[in-house]
Amino acid sequence: MDVARLPRHIAIIMDGNGRWAQSQGFVRTLGHREGSASVRRIVRACRRLGLGALTLYAFSEQNWGRPQLEVDVLMELLKEFLLSERAEMIERGIRLRSIGRIDRLPDHVRAVLDEVVEATSGGERMTLTLALSYGGREEIADAAREIARRAASGELDPEDVDERSFGDALPSMEAGPVDLLIRTSGELRVSNFVLWAAAYAELYFTDRLWPDFDERDLFEALAAYQMRDRRFGRIASPAKEAPATLAALLASGL
Ligand code: IPE
Ligand code: IPE
Ligand code: MG
Repeated sequence: MDVARLPRHIAIIMDGNGRWAQSQGFVRTLGHREGSASVRRIVRACRRLGLGALTLYAFSEQNWGRPQLEVDVLMELLKEFLLSERAEMIERGIRLRSIGRIDRLPDHVRAVLDEVVEATSGGERMTLTLALSYGGREEIADAAREIARRAASGELDPEDVDERSFGDALPSMEAGPVDLLIRTSGELRVSNFVLWAAAYAELYFTDRLWPDFDERDLFEALAAYQMRDRRFGRIASPAKEAPATLAALLASGL
């Protein structure tokens, strides 16, 4: 792995907690506890690597549909994580933020979240974004509604809505576009995560379940990323042959 060519922004779909627990005969919620240890490990590793931004899918808008007890455990673990990492985040210059419909979170969790976001707001080393009650489509629809509202009130000219200004209206884009999107647990889908920001992300899927995902797995993902040729629709390197004209190419059948 070449530390000089790291992605600037990594996003992770942390999946497989339930299966990790069940495969060992434990209740699913124990998997979430182990998953939260994994979060601490990976946040630390990314910070040490000097990554600019890390976005973690911690709870989707759709995850509210899980059994209440599981939702409650996830909320408790989130609160625990925030309280236990607060001091280290401040000390290490990590700025915490959240994306998603956080007004849906229980008050006691949101109060802690708001406080830690505020307390870490001066952090300049790495932006850690937690996606909570988050859905990519919901985020896009919310931004579209806001833009429509501003256009209707005359505050915004519809002609000014373009890819850049729309992106600016998406909270997930505040940390910049995603360079590398990792999903654990072997599922090959995006599950409504950062749809817009990941438009040109390199995708990396691993069978490893989230509680087992460690620094070595992260380095493997980074090494794989560095093997990729990110073309953004262009070509790898400009053609070396003599420049041709379109007319000459058409005449020769391209
Ligand atoms: C990911 O693990 C954590 C959350 C979605 C909150 P899961 O709980 O989805 O674990 P599996 O996919 O059922 O194994
Ligand atoms: C995606 O995982 C959400 C999080 C990791 C928070 P899910 O387990 O909820 O997604 P599906 O159900 O496999 O698509
Ligand atoms: Mg899952």
